[in-house]
Amino acid sequence: SPAPTFETIPETVAAIRKALPEGLHTPSVGIVCGSGLSGLVESLRDVTLVPYDGLPGFAKSTVPGHRSSLAFGFIGEKQAVPVVAMLGRFHPYEGHSLSTVMYPIRVMAALGIKDIIITNAAGALNPEFSVGSIVVVRDHLALPGLSGFNPLIGPTFSPEVTRFLPVSGAYSPALRRLAFLAAHQLGLPSDDLVEGTYAWVSGPTYESPAEGTFLRRVGADMVGMSTVPEVLAARELGVGVLVLSLATNKVVIPEKYRSIKEEVAAELAGKKIELPVEEVVSHAEVLEIGKIKGDVMRKLVAKIIDLIPES
Ligand code: 6GU
Repeated sequence: SPAPTFETIPETVAAIRKALPEGLHTPSVGIVCGSGLSGLVESLRDVTLVPYDGLPGFAKSTVPGHRSSLAFGFIGEKQAVPVVAMLGRFHPYEGHSLSTVMYPIRVMAALGIKDIIITNAAGALNPEFSVGSIVVVRDHLALPGLSGFNPLIGPTFSPEVTRFLPVSGAYSPALRRLAFLAAHQLGLPSDDLVEGTYAWVSGPTYESPAEGTFLRRVGADMVGMSTVPEVLAARELGVGVLVLSLATNKVVIPEKYRSIKEEVAAELAGKKIELPVEEVVSHAEVLEIGKIKGDVMRKLVAKIIDLIPES
């Protein structure tokens, strides 16, 4: 299917609003639910689901653990904030164009969101992080973006947006502050919520040990295959961004490589040698941690939204 553009946005917005009660026509906060994190929908009241299937410009999401609908509803105890949540996102590694990946964000912006909370499951490179830690992203390394695949390459999305988007302030300090306040109010242990830099890679393979080592050395704390295109699309349209990244596993960064040369030499000398344990990441493990920590993520997102000042 051709990449969706600015021209199809009014059509998509009209199709969505037709399916919604009046009170949900203009959500103020968007949410993107990452792998295994679609349970965020349990926080919404008066939910209306709008399947991606049939929405102009939307592709089909193909990753297990994703639900492929927009969920509209209200969140918050102090306030009833109208929100829209993406249950399942599109990834470049599925073969979707970057325009397709960014399109739902642009639709949510057209619906009226002021802020967006983007969640993802990612690997931890920072040795101080634990599996299950939630990382408030403060900056990114967009590896595809640095090497010819910046998501904003091409005609500018609309006549209103700038050609040269600054990204130094992309991760809203005000929203990051609310994340830590929310964690405090929920009584989360201090180690559960940390800060870090997210490296975006294209996937679908996980990192080789050398790649994991490389990413750590250049300053990344987390690595994942999503989010940065959505962040750029949101920032281009002036939407405030908060990214919460769930550490589902630790990335393999070997202190020392297993040496086959030494092993053969030992074998020839008739000596025994201790073999290092080789670790491997699996998608099942990524989804499992999502299930375990999904509830914390859900409460955190709901509390953060409750803390956003009404504008
Ligand atoms: Cl280890 N790497 C990448 N690129 N994405 C991930 C991950 C690792 N774990 C979860 N998502």
